[in-house]
Amino acid sequence: MNTMETSEQFLMKTYGRQPIAVQSGIRGVCTDETGKTYIDFGSGIGTNSLGYCDADWADAVYKQVRTVQHTSNYYYVSVQAELAEQLCTLTDMERVFFGNSGAEANECAIKVARKYSFDRYGEGRGTILTLQNSFHGRTLTTLAATGQDVFHKDFHPFPQGFVHAKPNDLTDLHEKLDDSVCAVMIELVQGEGGVHVLDPDYVKVVAELCQERDLLLIVDEVQTGIGRTGTFLACEQYRLHPDIITLAKGLGGGLPIGACLVAASCADVMGQGSHGSTFGGNPVVCAGALAVLSRVAEPGFLDSVQEKSVYIREVLESCPEVESVSGLGLMIGIRLKTMSAGEILAAAREAGLLVLTAKDKVRLLPPLTISKEELDAGLEILLQILNN
Ligand SMILES: Cc1ncc(COP(=O)(O)O)c(C=O)c1O
Repeated sequence: MNTMETSEQFLMKTYGRQPIAVQSGIRGVCTDETGKTYIDFGSGIGTNSLGYCDADWADAVYKQVRTVQHTSNYYYVSVQAELAEQLCTLTDMERVFFGNSGAEANECAIKVARKYSFDRYGEGRGTILTLQNSFHGRTLTTLAATGQDVFHKDFHPFPQGFVHAKPNDLTDLHEKLDDSVCAVMIELVQGEGGVHVLDPDYVKVVAELCQERDLLLIVDEVQTGIGRTGTFLACEQYRLHPDIITLAKGLGGGLPIGACLVAASCADVMGQGSHGSTFGGNPVVCAGALAVLSRVAEPGFLDSVQEKSVYIREVLESCPEVESVSGLGLMIGIRLKTMSAGEILAAAREAGLLVLTAKDKVRLLPPLTISKEELDAGLEILLQILNN
């Protein structure tokens, strides 16, 4: 049996996979087992932030795996400490907890918010308000947090304590922010929900209400963080300093990591024994993340993300089939006039370009390091399909 057949037989059928068996990759291009190459505008859903097998990243990971590959969190390890310090410095937060995924980062955020509230106000104030159309993960609790009914079936009973408000609707927000709420959790750009950018005026009011009522503001930057939107955090573009920020995806450059960062307001909520993870903050993963941070912090790096974003938008907006382009930085959604996103995804694949979809949009999350040549080659394929 080949890779696809073996996978179909032995893996749970949880994914609608594309018929490609990826064998290797370098920068923004991967090669499948037949030798066909693809320009990758998806980067493992925004995860391979430095592209495939970046040399500095790979060297850092290799060096660490030859030094100490794992130690339990009963001991200290320098790469974990260094990553924690760098992340707190870059985000102006106080402390971080490391897990292995975005969902775990959000689980930690939810636990911090509820404990913060319980410690101060006691029972009955444990509800988290999230937004309709949001996506916060696949664990039972983060599914309950996710404001899309399509995810709220099959797995009952779901954990309680979530209410979903309409994005950008202050009347609905006021109605749903009752005395049972302890925190508000938002994505500044709803990625999985269709690349919708949250209105800054709405976010400002949310932040003010949180401040007034001692509600913790959690910003899920799992997809938007680590330079994806052209600033290190999307929060910077909203002039927002939340109580909790969650990160994952691009942070590890392709290795599994989740981070839950807390501000001074809740830095000491979690005490010994309140949370944990066997693999969280694994040294090899931390070494990869440090390599990502050092690249993203290089002078001009984030400017180059913005420049590429402007360039992609200009090219796309000049195409008659494109209805509109949404998103921030290199997190881009394309609404089409007549063609379906699924149709474009399949045609692009055939022509050697990998794209993603989000709801009815074509979605692009190219590596932050994608070169002008790779970008042009990919856009040429996309335009050829859209102009046909
Ligand atoms: C905003 C956001 N939060 C959380 C998650 C869940 O992350 P993970 O799949 O790493 O658990 C995702 C994944 O797409 C996401 O986009």
